[in-house]
Amino acid sequence: MTAQIIDGKAVAEQLRAELKSKVADLKTKDILPGLAVVLVGDDPASRSYVTAKGRACDEIGLYSDNRCLPELTAQEDLISLVEEFNHDPRIHGILVQLPLPKHIDEGPVVLAIDPAKDVDGFHPVNVGKMVIGQECFLPCTPHGILQLLLRSGVQIEGAEVVVVGRSNIVGKPIANMLIQKSLTGNATVTVCHTRTHNLADHVRRADIIIAAAGRPNTITADMVKEGAVVIDVGVNRVEDATRKRGYRLVGDVDFDSVKEKASLITPVPGGVGPMTITMLLYNTVQSAMRAAGLEA
Ligand code: GUN
Repeated sequence: MTAQIIDGKAVAEQLRAELKSKVADLKTKDILPGLAVVLVGDDPASRSYVTAKGRACDEIGLYSDNRCLPELTAQEDLISLVEEFNHDPRIHGILVQLPLPKHIDEGPVVLAIDPAKDVDGFHPVNVGKMVIGQECFLPCTPHGILQLLLRSGVQIEGAEVVVVGRSNIVGKPIANMLIQKSLTGNATVTVCHTRTHNLADHVRRADIIIAAAGRPNTITADMVKEGAVVIDVGVNRVEDATRKRGYRLVGDVDFDSVKEKASLITPVPGGVGPMTITMLLYNTVQSAMRAAGLEA
């Protein structure tokens, strides 16, 4: 079997078009959703993410306020800026780009964000609500994965899902979301990680594989059941002298061999990646609607 490719760029564009029309509709009610993005330091990868977020806001007509703070910014100053945004009525979503420089403790910074504006879904209040199935902001990458599965017609209910990776940003939340009693839940989920014995034995049972280990070639064809759905969340740079920038991006899945066994597979780039920023826009629009007392 040769897999059908899940085109994350196309799904993201469709969702952004839906959001753009919702934003235009909100404008007629004098509501303009706003997103604040804070970057500390000048890590080039983080800077390009932040630029892309600002551009995405412009594209669908959101207000955005991007702040780039110097590497040596004090933790209290960062928290003061977050608090300023908490009280700014133009801002409905606040995102502090992670990772932060080493001298800043991420925990208190995330705690300082008003949970009602935590469009990343990283605040413990939102994490807790997600786990117990209450309305909350869902974290963007796992939320994007669910949208890809849903819009590709994948049967989640009753499926055996194997998640490889247990990060707070992807592995833990996606596993939780997939076991909820919901349209995108009711799956049977196994979470594998660096201390798992016989990773291949677990992955071979999966109807849906979610690879979020952060290591190239974690999933090879011999580990994949014929007809499985494969979602590759990895973004890894590997040296490539034939590219102008000296590297290329690969996922966690050995794409060329696995696509011969899977029924559906996401590429890297162009799979999960384009969905993450889109779900951030989605959460920001949802936040503005909630703040205005509208059904989100
Ligand atoms: N760094 C990498 N991914 C993310 C994300 O989704 N949100 C934030 N705030 N930082 C990130």
